[in-house]
Amino acid sequence: MTVSEIFSTMDYGPAPESAAEALAWLVDGGDRFGHFIGGGFTAPGDGFESRNPATGEVLATLSQASTEDVDAAVAAARKAQGKWARLSSHERAKYLYALARLIQKHARLFAVLETLDNGKPIRESRDIDIPLVHRHFYYHAGLAQLMETELPGHEPLGVCGQIIPWNFPLLMLAWKVAPALAAGNTVVLKPAEYTSLTALLFADICREAGLPKGVVNIVTGDGAVGEMIVNHPGIDKIAFTGSTEVGRKIREATAGSGKALTLELGGKSPYIVFEDSDIDSAVEGLVDAIWFNQGQVCCAGSRLLVQEGIAERFYDKLRARMDGLRLGDPLDKCIDVGAVVDPVQLERITAMVAEAGPEGTVYHARCPLPDQGCFYPPTLITGLSPAARLMQEEIFGPVLVGCTFRTPDEAVQLANNTRYGLAASVWTENINLALDIAPKLVAGVVWINATNLFDAAAGFGGMRESGFGREGGWEGIHAYLKPARASKPLKPVLPEAKAEEPEIADPLDRTAKLYIGGKQARPDGGYSRPVFGPRGRLLGHMGLGSRKDIRNAVETARKASGWGKTTGHLRAQILYFIAENLSARRGEFADRLRSLTGQHGKTAQAEVDAAIARLFTYAAWADKYDGAVHSVPIRGVALAMHEPVGVIGALCADDAPLLGLVSVMAPAIAMGNTCVLIPSEPYPLAATDFYQVLDTSDLPGGVVNIVTGSHAELAPPLAGHLDVDAIWSFSSSDLSAVIEKAAAGNLKRSWVNNARSRDWVTDEGEGREFLRAATEVQNIWIPYGE
Ligand code: NAI
Repeated sequence: MTVSEIFSTMDYGPAPESAAEALAWLVDGGDRFGHFIGGGFTAPGDGFESRNPATGEVLATLSQASTEDVDAAVAAARKAQGKWARLSSHERAKYLYALARLIQKHARLFAVLETLDNGKPIRESRDIDIPLVHRHFYYHAGLAQLMETELPGHEPLGVCGQIIPWNFPLLMLAWKVAPALAAGNTVVLKPAEYTSLTALLFADICREAGLPKGVVNIVTGDGAVGEMIVNHPGIDKIAFTGSTEVGRKIREATAGSGKALTLELGGKSPYIVFEDSDIDSAVEGLVDAIWFNQGQVCCAGSRLLVQEGIAERFYDKLRARMDGLRLGDPLDKCIDVGAVVDPVQLERITAMVAEAGPEGTVYHARCPLPDQGCFYPPTLITGLSPAARLMQEEIFGPVLVGCTFRTPDEAVQLANNTRYGLAASVWTENINLALDIAPKLVAGVVWINATNLFDAAAGFGGMRESGFGREGGWEGIHAYLKPARASKPLKPVLPEAKAEEPEIADPLDRTAKLYIGGKQARPDGGYSRPVFGPRGRLLGHMGLGSRKDIRNAVETARKASGWGKTTGHLRAQILYFIAENLSARRGEFADRLRSLTGQHGKTAQAEVDAAIARLFTYAAWADKYDGAVHSVPIRGVALAMHEPVGVIGALCADDAPLLGLVSVMAPAIAMGNTCVLIPSEPYPLAATDFYQVLDTSDLPGGVVNIVTGSHAELAPPLAGHLDVDAIWSFSSSDLSAVIEKAAAGNLKRSWVNNARSRDWVTDEGEGREFLRAATEVQNIWIPYGE
């Protein structure tokens, strides 16, 4: 090529990164790897090959873990856990710091190995993945250091099973391992079968850091090994990142097991471009949104929504930019788009794009494709209707779907028209518009004039079928902790039986009805049951709610969602008013409790007083459970906003008929949720009396709905309802398994007691644990610009 030709094409020359060191590390490992259990590697077992997706070459042979391997890993983790948890905060912090330092020291080796194994461009593994990994360990060294002083009264969960995907192999390991260790847990981690190599290098680093044996255990293999971990009785928590399909299976498999669970699942995140945006920046952002990591990113901006007036211009610029992207050898430092992780994924992407049909216009970037390896060209599909499968389903490849919108309202509607809720980007030069739109988007993370920003200090995680739980920041550490308190198995509280000598029926009908939409409503089925006092005296009748009543209550609660937009001050006023009205009828409620449960007058009075105090507590919190401004390393802010979860369904404690109801209702409504409550099954009449208190307290109709009846019958329709966002249960009937299984449908958040007791009168019945369950954290990133 002549000098003048070079100037006229201005093409990049190849700038390959050397793979020598990484390949030498693989050879040192004998090209065959066992599992990392109890501080050492096991002998390689039945194996499978790990290949470089850019070339098809075999990099190493890995072992498929057997049941015995998983048992050994869990046993090693269990053995190490107590001692690890008893180390001082500072001791644990030092280990995490050592891990951070060593990863940083071996950063180049990690980056090259990651690129060889996964196919991602070296530019990304070197400048994004690995720096975020050591940042995560440094940040959590800090959290470990502060644990004792800042999070007293908490303890680790125990042994954590962690299952991660192949798109960010080492980064997902860091997101899982660092907080677990900081909080005093030990782990059994399974990397994805396509990309286990950096996890095995990390095992080497654990040895180098002198991490106590058994604190980190790594077993390799496919989904079958994942299932073994999920179902293992020695595991206390499962943390999973991967497909929504597998996430749902894990929710079902762990239902009622008492294992804690966090799920970070798929997405179809909207990328919204308004006509007043800086179009060139928005096009450049889109490159990072959907062609970063070949689009294999759970929060990829994979659904472009562009305002009609600029659509053609935007698409033109976008297509031109796509044509300029460089695809090829991921180890080449000038490459923008590397290889897809595996031929299986390549086939999947190809098959999905073929579904675009005559309706869609498919544009493949006109950039040269290597003639071997798993490469797929950057692709744009337009013209599909919003309901089309490709507009709704995760393609998980370098494929963008786009459509237009006219008004900001329409943009919000289209953006939220998805079963997912992971991330969103908003592009506009009008900050008022951006700040108006961001909180209206159902997404755990919103980037304004930016995309794919991550940091250890900011929580990351989804809503709806994108899963639950947050990773990173102060909010993420709670996924690895529980309140330190003792609990006992809960004995079922049964309804009182009628006396042998039946009473003469009261001529006045005293059938307490249901409470739906601020009105008393007859149960749909028209059934009721008598309620007896402890000596068999007939106290009244309760309505027996049915599936249909649950549906009505949920619909009504959803319609009342405007409550979430009211101010904390207003919600506090109403909670104080409820407390005031309850206080005015203090004696009456105490009598009711006494007649229902036969408890001592003083105890009954104490329950009413505790309920009044609890209402005060949440009135206090309503305008004080603040979000945060996270210190992220950009010129800008990441606002952690506390949003309501939505509609919360709750089965209330049987043994505290009034206080159990107030203790779940008050935090739920203080944080702006609406709720459907199923009160104490044996003693429902305290709740039905409470309607009158609510009626006189200015609470808008539909914010609190109460359906009396059998917990066992009402739990499945409430937990399974697709318009319920979270389900809580403090019932004395052991319904945890039924509830969590039903909750898998829309992957709603669940909080169940696993038939363990809670003392409602003490601090156990209130506080931040409840507030966290009643809020969703939305992180909104707002860069200031240069
Ligand atoms: P996957 O969800 O099957 O794999 C993720 C991890 O789960 C891997 O470690 C796998 O071995 C493990 N696993 C699989 N089945 C399991 C089971 N029954 N129990 C426990 N663990 C199990 O994802 P896959 O099949 O690799 O990719 C398929 C699709 O999933 C992708 O096309 C993409 O749409 C989505 N996906 C989404 C990710 C995200 O970060 N949101 C990550 C990976 C995949």
